[in-house]
Amino acid sequence: MDKSPLQLPSFSKAQLALRNGQDREEIWIAYKGFIYDVKSSRLWRGGKHYEHWAGQDLTLELSEAPHTEKVFDKFEAIGILL
Ligand code: HEM
Repeated sequence: MDKSPLQLPSFSKAQLALRNGQDREEIWIAYKGFIYDVKSSRLWRGGKHYEHWAGQDLTLELSEAPHTEKVFDKFEAIGILL
């Protein structure tokens, strides 16, 4: 999928942190500079995905996952993490 950073809005870590699945409706996670909306995923219900919480940059944590970054293919990036 072609991602165009210039067309996406930017969000701070504080803004991302509010989208943790608890404080707001939205459930967002950041990976390699992009922010993804994972609200449609039943695997991220309530903002929790196994031991991981939404609302943060999970780039480094991916190494703990049993899957690759391929899991992001079905999600459109909705923003850029500042
Ligand atoms: C202990 C760590 C983790 C476990 C056990 C785990 C497990 C899983 C499993 C079983 C799936 C669905 C099957 C698959 O696509 O392989 C999945 C999907 C996914 N995981 Fe993880 N994961 C972990 C960590 C992470 C981390 C750190 C991230 C983010 C960087 C992440 C992001 C995702 C996403 C975006 C999906 C796709 C959800 C969907 O398709 O609805 N996972 N994970």
